[in-house]
Amino acid sequence: MLLGGMERTFAMIKPDGVRRGLTPEILARIARKGYRVVGLKQMVIARETAENHYAEHRERPFFGELVDFITGGPVVALALEGENAIAGWRAMMGATNPANAAPGTIRADFATTTGENVTHGSDSPGSAQRELALFFHDGELLA
Ligand code: PPS
Repeated sequence: MLLGGMERTFAMIKPDGVRRGLTPEILARIARKGYRVVGLKQMVIARETAENHYAEHRERPFFGELVDFITGGPVVALALEGENAIAGWRAMMGATNPANAAPGTIRADFATTTGENVTHGSDSPGSAQRELALFFHDGELLA
């Protein structure tokens, strides 16, 4: 059975990554990997959008902190396209907790805490579709 195929995923450079000037480095890694950037915008996320984006974590103790952090400065929202891009982008990011992230991943190379871990990526086709729709209108994405 063939796995993967051409996929689109939602990726984000979080406020810590943007503030630290890591945007060009992360975009370079995405280009080197071979993913196509079909959407890109630097923006400040509205609180309501952030609460919606992280709705599955609403009951967790860090939810308020997470929403404060993600709305606390500009992020870069990205739509990436490529073969098996959902799992592939998550592999490039590394584990959520940078202490567990494999060497050479973005989080291993650039982050030290689970809260401020530089990037986000959708974890399934369902969440990719939901998150892309939350951050991009159809007309904003390349065909
Ligand atoms: S995962 O990927 O759902 O298994 O990871 P999880 O540990 O459940 O974390 C989900 C997102 O919440 C962020 N997070 C935190 N933020 C602030 N403080 C604390 N303590 C904390 N723990 C987890 C984590 O960075 C995940 O963000 P995303 O954007 O999904 O990577």
